[in-house]
Amino acid sequence: MTLAGESLDLVVIGLGYVGLPLAQEACRSGLKVTGLDVNAGVVATLGERRSHVDDLSDADVEAMLAAGFVATTNPAVISQAKTVVICVPTPLADDGRPDLGPVLAAAATVAGHLTAGTLVILESTTYPGTTEELLRPRLEESGLRIGVDIFLAFSPERIDPGNPVYGFRNTPKVVGGSTPACTAAATAFYRLVVDEVVPARGTREAEMAKLLENTYRHVNIALVNEMARFCHELDIDLWDVIRCASTKPFGFQPFYPGPGVGGHCIPIDPNYLSYQVQAALGYPFRFVELAQEINNGMPSYVVHRIQNALNDVAKPLRGSTVLLMGVTYKADISDQRESPAAPIAQKLAEQGARVIFHDPYVPFWTVKGLELNRVAVLEEAVEKADITVLLQSHSVYDLETLGRLAPLLLDTRGAMPDLPSVERL
Ligand SMILES: NC(=O)c1ccc[n+]([C@@H]2O[C@H](COP(=O)([O-])OP(=O)(O)OC[C@H]3O[C@@H](n4cnc5c(N)ncnc54)[C@H](O)[C@@H]3O)[C@@H](O)[C@H]2O)c1
Repeated sequence: MTLAGESLDLVVIGLGYVGLPLAQEACRSGLKVTGLDVNAGVVATLGERRSHVDDLSDADVEAMLAAGFVATTNPAVISQAKTVVICVPTPLADDGRPDLGPVLAAAATVAGHLTAGTLVILESTTYPGTTEELLRPRLEESGLRIGVDIFLAFSPERIDPGNPVYGFRNTPKVVGGSTPACTAAATAFYRLVVDEVVPARGTREAEMAKLLENTYRHVNIALVNEMARFCHELDIDLWDVIRCASTKPFGFQPFYPGPGVGGHCIPIDPNYLSYQVQAALGYPFRFVELAQEINNGMPSYVVHRIQNALNDVAKPLRGSTVLLMGVTYKADISDQRESPAAPIAQKLAEQGARVIFHDPYVPFWTVKGLELNRVAVLEEAVEKADITVLLQSHSVYDLETLGRLAPLLLDTRGAMPDLPSVERL
């Protein structure tokens, strides 16, 4: 535990997928780092040298602890910090509106322990204006002046879980401060932990940059998802189309269709932007709404295609065994947040199918209170299932062998070899 009065280079608030890699890189850079989380379970796990996020191994956590990292639930550590970075979740409320509860709670915690000279940075993805309109007034309640006594900035996180090439250090970091002095202070901090820092004009530009990146993905995925539907009707292999278009060396970036969008960013963040445009300006952000409609419709479309494929071999969906292969939102990681596999399983179960699953990263899977059976031997289950659906193409899957064993297989990722029993989305 840190000694009272001892100075800390960094306190990271929120030790999840975003906060922990930041803390790790800061430890590697020789900074004295403490992590603060409200979840005592997370703090205890880290203290036991165990990692709970995909991008860090237990050995990584052990190395952090050896470098002096401490995880705690005690907010008093904030008063010892030179820099505080907030990495708490920004989910949607039940009615689809942004839920800034965790950000506001973290802001109140920081404000309660703030000392002169501290740099406070928000990394949680949020709508433009959050840093200035929500965070700034709370920090100023301390009587300390932004840009003079304390420094405030926003810096979007760009972590891509499971990406073997781009990690924390070699992904450029956008930084926008409340004042030029705040931008300068935040830039100087991030230069300690990343190779390239990109200063933005202000906090709003930095906040909006993140939303542009995610909305761009959301819209382009929706474009190919819509094309997937009519390419199927027209008997055109869209994956081959994308392969050909991708040979253009300029002006084109490939996006791929799939069973829907998942993860913490794409299905959620654009809502923050469309909510703010509607609330502040009174008109919709139509691209986001259309993308949402198309991407959210993909799980139903997949179920419809499963039903049609079974129908072609004279089987009803009711009573058929449907094996879902890969249920995480992304290949080669264990994160299931917002995975389209969940609505697909739910819709299939509602229609009377016997749903079973396999995923090397998911030992137990519960969808809306229903625990699904995980198959023990994948090859055997693929052979026996009425239909197998490849939802996530984890690289450990031997797709050639599985494709040959399956009597019927729907490939939602365009990853299977051409075989008579395999149908593409
Ligand atoms: N996961 C990603 O790939 C990713 C990528 C880019 C941006 N983001 C954004 O980063 C932010 C954090 O996401 P995440 O994936 O790391 O979330 P996470 O759920 O993995 O981790 C968040 C952590 O914050 C803790 N927490 C919640 N409220 C707190 C509080 N008031 N004080 C202290 N700790 C608190 C939680 O207990 C949890 O451990 C979100 O805004 C998200 O949109 C995530």
